[in-house]
Amino acid sequence: MREFRWEDLPQVRAVWDTAGPGIHLDSSDEAEGLRRKWEHDPDLFLVAQADTQIIGVVLAGFDGRRAIVYHLAVLEAWRRRGIGRRLMIELESRLRARGCPKSYLIATPDNQVALAFYRDLGWEVMDMVLMGKRFT
Ligand SMILES: CC(C)(COP(=O)(O)OP(=O)(O)OC[C@H]1O[C@@H](n2cnc3c(N)ncnc32)[C@H](O)[C@@H]1OP(=O)(O)O)[C@@H](O)C(=O)NCCC(=O)NCCS
Repeated sequence: MREFRWEDLPQVRAVWDTAGPGIHLDSSDEAEGLRRKWEHDPDLFLVAQADTQIIGVVLAGFDGRRAIVYHLAVLEAWRRRGIGRRLMIELESRLRARGCPKSYLIATPDNQVALAFYRDLGWEVMDMVLMGKRFT
């Protein structure tokens, strides 16, 4: 497990592109948006690597008060071996070290695997409505 490097981008995209319906990518996940995110929080953009292959990825943003975790995915062939858990534990530990008291993440209600996964790590479903607005 290590921090993302720019040359990982094609493999990271491949992990997301093959992850299934739980990963929702949009225009901010194109190269320019990801570069801006990476430059903002390089320590919160993590990959899991086996030999030369990127097999898992997760990223988070921290604004000084709250964090949001995004785009956790593990290649299907590598699932259920504790890789997702290790990525999250490392990310959470980095957030704590930066003084982050609380984090959110978004999962769709039909993503039962992700919900079971996050519950197992102590995350709780919050009774709220997520709202969004596009500026571009
Ligand atoms: C969610 C995801 C990242 C989990 O990664 P993973 O490496 O397979 O997870 P782990 O092996 O670390 O699992 C840790 C625990 O989570 C739970 N869990 C993981 N997969 C599960 C499944 N398919 N069914 C039920 N519980 C599951 C279990 O409690 C598991 O512990 P155990 O194996 O000791 O029983 C992976 O399934 C994935 O990439 N899914 C597609 C992308 C996605 O939906 N991401 C979430 C976006 S919000």
